[in-house]
Amino acid sequence: MKKTAIFFGPEKGAVNRVADMIRHLVGPDMVELIPVKNASVDDFLPYDQIIFGISTVGKETWDGKPAASDWGVFLPKVSLGDFKGKTVAIYGLGDHITYANSFVDFMGLLARELMKTEARIVGQVPVDDYEFEESAAVFDEKFIGLPLDEDFEPELTPDRVKKWIVQLGKDFIF
Ligand SMILES: Cc1cc2nc3c(=O)[nH]c(=O)nc-3n(C[C@H](O)[C@H](O)[C@H](O)COP(=O)(O)O)c2cc1C
Repeated sequence: MKKTAIFFGPEKGAVNRVADMIRHLVGPDMVELIPVKNASVDDFLPYDQIIFGISTVGKETWDGKPAASDWGVFLPKVSLGDFKGKTVAIYGLGDHITYANSFVDFMGLLARELMKTEARIVGQVPVDDYEFEESAAVFDEKFIGLPLDEDFEPELTPDRVKKWIVQLGKDFIF
């Protein structure tokens, strides 16, 4: 049984690339990649450690009405999962230039759903490492997870991910 699962969406874009990167870094045999597109909350059951990958797209049309996207369908179900004893972390793709006022917002939406559960959310990141105006992903003056911007600073992604994996190592058993 693989220890860690990465529930991610959408497929084939930046979120998917980072999921592959994390799996490669941690060790392919240790990590299961699970697209949220066809996932159910029962798929959380086998894993004590879960990483979530999400991008922020179409916030202007979101506003409580789930879009017909991968996460649009799965996000409202997340809080129905049993997270007792589970440790979770989130990474979020965004664009800090074009969307400086809603930078990685969906990471915050997902965190709010997870906060309704018994999940222990780890992997918070200092806001000082980023330039942005506003973000719904900031809680207690920190990002609730790891923001990444593959549109405007892709060169920073590998080091940000590596550093974060080391940080997760304090709470995750890899
Ligand atoms: C229509 C649209 C809306 C977006 N809105 C936001 C936003 O509100 N905040 C943000 O940080 N990024 C926003 N982005 C940028 C995406 O999150 C970014 O391009 C991300 O890398 C996409 O990852 P994906 O291809 O895996 O979905 C938006 C992108 C698009 C195309």
